[in-house]
Amino acid sequence: CGIVGYIGKNNAAEILVDGLRKLEYRGYDSAGIAVFEDEGIKVVKAKGRLSDLEEKMKLAGVPKGCCGIGHTRWATHGEPSDVNSHPHGNSRVTLVHNGIIENYLEIKERLISKGYVFESETDTEAVAKLLDYYYDGNPFEAVKKVIQSVKGSYAFGMMFSDYPDQIFAVRKDSPMIVGLGEEENFIASDVPAILKYTKDYYLIDENEIVILKKDGVKVLNLDQEPIEKERQTATWDIEAAEKGGYPHFMLKEIFEQPEALRKTVAPRIKDGLPDLQVEAFTDELIRSVGKIHIVACGTASYAGMIGKCALEKLVRVPAEVCIASEFRYNDPILAPDDLVIVISQSGETADTLAALRLAKEKGIHTMAIVNVVGSSIAREADSIIYTWAGPEIAVASTKAYTVQMSVMYLIALKMALVRGTLTEEEVRRYCEIIQAMPEKQQDILAQSDTCQYFASRFQNAEHLFYIGRGLDYALSMEGSLKLKEISYIHSEAYAAGELKHGTISLITDHVPVVAVATQEHIYEKTISNIKEVTTRGAKVLLVVNDRFEVKDDIADYILRLPTTEDVLMPLLAVIPLQLFAYYTAVLRGCDVDKPRNLAKSVTVE
Ligand code: G6P
Repeated sequence: CGIVGYIGKNNAAEILVDGLRKLEYRGYDSAGIAVFEDEGIKVVKAKGRLSDLEEKMKLAGVPKGCCGIGHTRWATHGEPSDVNSHPHGNSRVTLVHNGIIENYLEIKERLISKGYVFESETDTEAVAKLLDYYYDGNPFEAVKKVIQSVKGSYAFGMMFSDYPDQIFAVRKDSPMIVGLGEEENFIASDVPAILKYTKDYYLIDENEIVILKKDGVKVLNLDQEPIEKERQTATWDIEAAEKGGYPHFMLKEIFEQPEALRKTVAPRIKDGLPDLQVEAFTDELIRSVGKIHIVACGTASYAGMIGKCALEKLVRVPAEVCIASEFRYNDPILAPDDLVIVISQSGETADTLAALRLAKEKGIHTMAIVNVVGSSIAREADSIIYTWAGPEIAVASTKAYTVQMSVMYLIALKMALVRGTLTEEEVRRYCEIIQAMPEKQQDILAQSDTCQYFASRFQNAEHLFYIGRGLDYALSMEGSLKLKEISYIHSEAYAAGELKHGTISLITDHVPVVAVATQEHIYEKTISNIKEVTTRGAKVLLVVNDRFEVKDDIADYILRLPTTEDVLMPLLAVIPLQLFAYYTAVLRGCDVDKPRNLAKSVTVE
């Protein structure tokens, strides 16, 4: 879901749709815009893709005007439909919203008793009507009363028909930035939406009310006093947010991994040793850590799984991975000397943010690994380590995962050094190997045709298993998620030794298996597990460390990976799994960058 607002000298409708297109990666199932025309606000909205909205605009007439707000909706309350789409409002006020209003039923009932009639099932319509109810000619006061009445998360873009030269905006727990142009200004959920027009922007904090005009932006606190905002400048340009010749963002981002890894790791290795450059993460703190809780959602949680294995192996410190939506409601057992590491590409995932806040409330040191600079999680954590993957646009995360893993390795190495579980010599060696990893990744990327061929052999499967042990199991979870997300093939990752305790009953000659074997001390065990499934008819694709002597007939298809330290193998082994998922989805004709039902950044719980 995304919001874009524009005020300036050009045709707003075009800029709004263009901006929303740049936010498509966030996921949506309907879209709409509202533009000030001479006769008042004109709204066009449609269920489906932006092309459906454009089609509708062709029929209804493209709104003409230089001020407007636009929205892509990812349904939460009320199915995707024209009427549930945003903007909502009436002839006086118009509003778009990202987030969830928790007390909307209460508000709705109150407004119904005052004679308001509702058309949609959305929480947003309740806010639009509340805004209308409070509005008596003073937009600032109406916005202020609304945010004092609603509970939940929101980013609102608002227009009042009495003020055709202004857009109002406010946010809490849902992202929103203000883009600063020449005689034109913007609001947007994320930077890619404005990059074509300007690289300069403000980050908006909670309870700051934005008044956007063509020639200026005011940001006010609730007492209507102006707030000095710091101008931010995007460090990447429009090319970074475009496909650059690749058929999909996902493929481009897979190929960007060596560079992303280089950019993330290089500034954090000084004189051959890890230097995280995080002031609050002192040696004293590192020495005192009793247990590490890694909290995240989706792919980020799988990067956490790799991190857990690395921390336990290299630092001998207990670490556990918790899914953020579970952690926050399970009354987690946290001791004062524990460390909570949250991982999030977007830095806006609602559950991860809530988990971070919970840990902070309990007085636990929180460290965040985040890709989006200035995002909520980045701003609230005690320690922050940015991954420098650049913008990740495809919904299925690839390069962000790899750099999240790399940061977990650096944390583990730093801790191992301080706590003396590795010698300085050993840490230096690991650092050297990580720095050389981008070249090895390049070698695997050069085998993308082979991955495409394997995908063509497996594309018709309806069920599939991934198996591995230890780190290979952790990695299998990510491989399996990639395949599910984009190809819609049902798949499951299993600890290779566990399959025979029940699940092997599902293996037939129609249920292929991807096996990962990169760890020396257990690979022979995994090979035995492969035999268990091939005996039962399964076709097997084996991704294996080149160093191991594995006979060609052990699996139907074998991909041999360049070798490195076992603990670091996931940095290499993930690539064929990503490519395999990608090509399978392409061959099945799926919408790879925008898989059904998914959103890139989930700011609702
Ligand atoms: C969504 C995305 C996933 C992502 C997860 C966590 O569900 O579709 O790809 O892994 O959120 O996102 P984060 O931004 O917190 O890493």
